[in-house]
Amino acid sequence: MSDLLLSAEPAPEVLAAFEEATGFMPVDEGLALYAAAVEAARTTGLPVLEIGTYCGRSAILLAAAAVEAGTVALTVDHHRGSEEQQPGWEYHDPTLVDPEVGLMDTLPRFRRALHAAGLEEHVVALVGRSPRIAALWGRPLGLVFIDGGHTDEHATGDYEGWVPHLAPEGLLVVHDVFPDPADGGQAPYRVYLRALAEGFEEVSVTGSLRVLRRSAR
Ligand SMILES: C[S@@+](CC[C@H](N)C(=O)[O-])C[C@H]1O[C@@H](n2cnc3c(N)ncnc32)[C@H](O)[C@@H]1O
Repeated sequence: MSDLLLSAEPAPEVLAAFEEATGFMPVDEGLALYAAAVEAARTTGLPVLEIGTYCGRSAILLAAAAVEAGTVALTVDHHRGSEEQQPGWEYHDPTLVDPEVGLMDTLPRFRRALHAAGLEEHVVALVGRSPRIAALWGRPLGLVFIDGGHTDEHATGDYEGWVPHLAPEGLLVVHDVFPDPADGGQAPYRVYLRALAEGFEEVSVTGSLRVLRRSAR
């Protein structure tokens, strides 16, 4: 494991906004994500990007890290929810259904959360399907955080679509990595293993959150 020091901590009001926001990420993983984002943005001077905005819980931390490093956070989501967030599934939240169209819409809750945190100006929301946006993207990134769809199709698509845009020494963060299938789905774990096999170096492990660094070459 690398000796890279991931030690930055968010301000108390940022942490409070994170805890207030709708979402699933526990605090210890959020702190690790924040530290990685500050580190990556400072090292590369480049924007940080997440796939999987949902209601903005992790985006709050990425935005605060971007402020700290003088850059911007980008967050990608179609805002219609992943498979497991649809009606009848384990992670469905009926308060997130748009009654007019009858589909999930997490965009309003995300916007409110970023506004409440005072971080709206520091986030660019990219609304659409991750592979489509990745295919149009043409700028290097300091950090890519994969937390979108958790099927093999989506997780692999996110990896293949966005990792080519990650700068040398940039950080790749993968959420919901469960080596034991009893703990959760395996698609993010397979992406993590692939990244290691393709030369990424592990920087930190916090719960199911893995931080990996791209080599300098
Ligand atoms: C687990 S949630 C993200 C949680 C968020 N990072 C947080 O910590 O609060 C996954 C999100 O990915 C989005 N998503 C799933 N597949 C996607 C795709 N192919 N393109 C864009 N967004 C996608 C879903 O709409 C959902 O909001």
